Amino acid sequence: MAKMWAGRTDGITDQIADDFNSSIHFDCRLYNEDITGSMAHAAMLKKQGIIPAEAAEHIIEGLAGILADLKSGKLAIDESCEDIHMFVEQVLTERIGDEGKMLHTARSRNDQVALDMRMYMRTKVKEIIELIKELIEVLNEASVKYIDVIMPGYTHLQRAQPIFFSQHLLAYEMMLLRDVSRLNDALERMDESPIGACALAGTTYDTDREYEAELLGFSGISANSMDAVSDRDYCIELLSCFSILMMHLSRFSEEIILWSSWEFRFIELSDAYTTGSSIMPQKKNCDMAELTRGKTGRVYGDLMSLLTVMKGIPLAYNKDMQEDKEPVFDAVNTVIMCLRVYIPMIANMKINSANMLRAAQSGFINATDLADYMVKKGLPFRSAYKISGQIVAECIRTDQVLETLPLSEYSKYWDQFDEDLYEAIDLVNAAEKRTSKGGTSRVSIREQIELVNQKLAEMQKGTE
Ligand code: ARG
Repeated sequence: MAKMWAGRTDGITDQIADDFNSSIHFDCRLYNEDITGSMAHAAMLKKQGIIPAEAAEHIIEGLAGILADLKSGKLAIDESCEDIHMFVEQVLTERIGDEGKMLHTARSRNDQVALDMRMYMRTKVKEIIELIKELIEVLNEASVKYIDVIMPGYTHLQRAQPIFFSQHLLAYEMMLLRDVSRLNDALERMDESPIGACALAGTTYDTDREYEAELLGFSGISANSMDAVSDRDYCIELLSCFSILMMHLSRFSEEIILWSSWEFRFIELSDAYTTGSSIMPQKKNCDMAELTRGKTGRVYGDLMSLLTVMKGIPLAYNKDMQEDKEPVFDAVNTVIMCLRVYIPMIANMKINSANMLRAAQSGFINATDLADYMVKKGLPFRSAYKISGQIVAECIRTDQVLETLPLSEYSKYWDQFDEDLYEAIDLVNAAEKRTSKGGTSRVSIREQIELVNQKLAEMQKGTE
């Protein structure tokens, strides 16, 4: 069958070219946006008197029928169409006759697809933001629950200083809050309607772009028609935001995997979010966390694809840009899947506070506190640091820990040690004394929990 754009050519293409050119098998997911966008376009054409009012009404009714039938499954997508835009227009014309052919006045598929993608991404990003917020809520609840649990904080994956588990969780909450804020920034920047830019240069018809933008929930319109149809920077920006979000989830996944290992045994994931091995009966694998870590690579890849697709394209639209959709859709799917599994996985995670404490007790993570104790009694920090290190070395040699080393031993290294040193190096005290803003003391943790609650509430207000 000849193409809808037959004219300059006979519109008969080789099957192999058709298959190569066609995007309907992936852009079919834009049907909702495409049809809603077209309805607004018809309304604008009517208001401006560009097409007869009656025709516009028939078009809008026809489109509403197509949308309902696609949603209910009564109408199937015809994969032999080139893309979703052609499919909708074709069905419309089949259903309402020649009036359907008026819909494409004062627009082009170039601004149409640019509009569809913006609308689609706007919806999906809001869905993703909601999921991130849910994850933050789950983490914040855990931060309240585990506020008394001591664990070793690490640097270089070596036990470093005692912290409360909540401090660790809150670190991720802060990262996720920034992820939300980044996505919101991007949403704001992409909030301009490209429709009406037409093929590239605008149109001779007396259109009302602002009106159409308003009908579709945009705050404004793009100021330059060529920019409107030829940039996909907002997709790249969103994929960058997704990549950063996935990097955060991937680091968290790595920790979940480590903490679940028999070496750490800090946490245990619910059976519902782990798998067994087909050969080793003892295994309980953190596949969801591993997959999230692995899928981070996919999302980075999607970002790289799009950056590379866009880098050499002369203005304005070129068919290369059809290649934006698969990476963007893949990234959206991946991020949503990871978040959906993460929320219940974290909500159902059990923690082993006894093991966390045990790990905290045996790594000399209060050596800094021992040094600080001496500093408070007048010794310069560097000297105190050295003495503390020598005492640690002695403990390692004699298989002891700082908490139980007798005062007589301490006194060999410095004559001003006193009984009160044991209080200073007590792990809970050591964590609790870190009252500097943002530190691990429980006062600071409570402040952070409150801050997160506040930010979540503010975000809620923003979406109402
Ligand atoms: N399927 C195309 C895409 O995704 C729609 C725009 C086609 N425009 C054109 N002039 N061929 O980019």
